Amino acid sequence: MGKVTVIDHPLIQHKLTMIRDKNTGSKAFRELVKEISMLMGYEVTRNLPLEDIEIETPVCKTKSKTLSGRKLGIVPILRAGIGMVDGILELIPAAKVGHVGLYRDPETLEPVEYYVKMPTDVSERELIVVDPMLATGGSAKAAIKFIKDRGATNIKLVCLVACPEGIEAVQDMHPDVDIYVASVDEKLDEHAYIIPGLGDAGDRLFGTK
Ligand code: PRP
Ligand code: URA
Repeated sequence: MGKVTVIDHPLIQHKLTMIRDKNTGSKAFRELVKEISMLMGYEVTRNLPLEDIEIETPVCKTKSKTLSGRKLGIVPILRAGIGMVDGILELIPAAKVGHVGLYRDPETLEPVEYYVKMPTDVSERELIVVDPMLATGGSAKAAIKFIKDRGATNIKLVCLVACPEGIEAVQDMHPDVDIYVASVDEKLDEHAYIIPGLGDAGDRLFGTK
């Protein structure tokens, strides 16, 4: 079963409160989502492997730690996931970025991919899938499946706000995927919105409502 980590750092919780507030406009919302994503990135990358290399300080030669060349990828789920990419890229600028876009077929209610573009060496990369909201889990489950279909084997999911239903759905379908969230909210409402949540993340990021 994938591990669930709630990153409850005070700075993250403070900024999360600001994006929950309905009076926070798109500019501030975008900036805050970027900042929270960067802060979450510290925890998500905590177990990256290190190796010793030999360097010379101004004083003497020494061995010192460096990241041991693990290849990383960030994969936003379109479209709201895009808001989380830049914050994580600030921490790991060498990461490649893949994209997954999907919509729900109005008749079958099945998720349909409309755009998937991944780095060519996707099977060698540790992938961080990002989406601000994990509600029913339908989008994340499908996005992770589409990525696995292309060869990915090492995947983490990072969301700002989740609910128990979404977490359980992803764990059931993808028990190999660890999940990182800033909050596990109470529940879903009858429209599959997270309560208390922050509303429609895509609309608030891009000002489309
Ligand atoms: C939102 C959100 C997730 C999804 C979560 O995207 O960004 O992708 O809903 O809901 P789920 O867990 O029930 O699938 P939406 O489909 O609104 O698209 P958008 O990013 O284009 O706004
Ligand atoms: N998608 C959102 O953007 N918000 C929710 O609360 C649920 C799904």
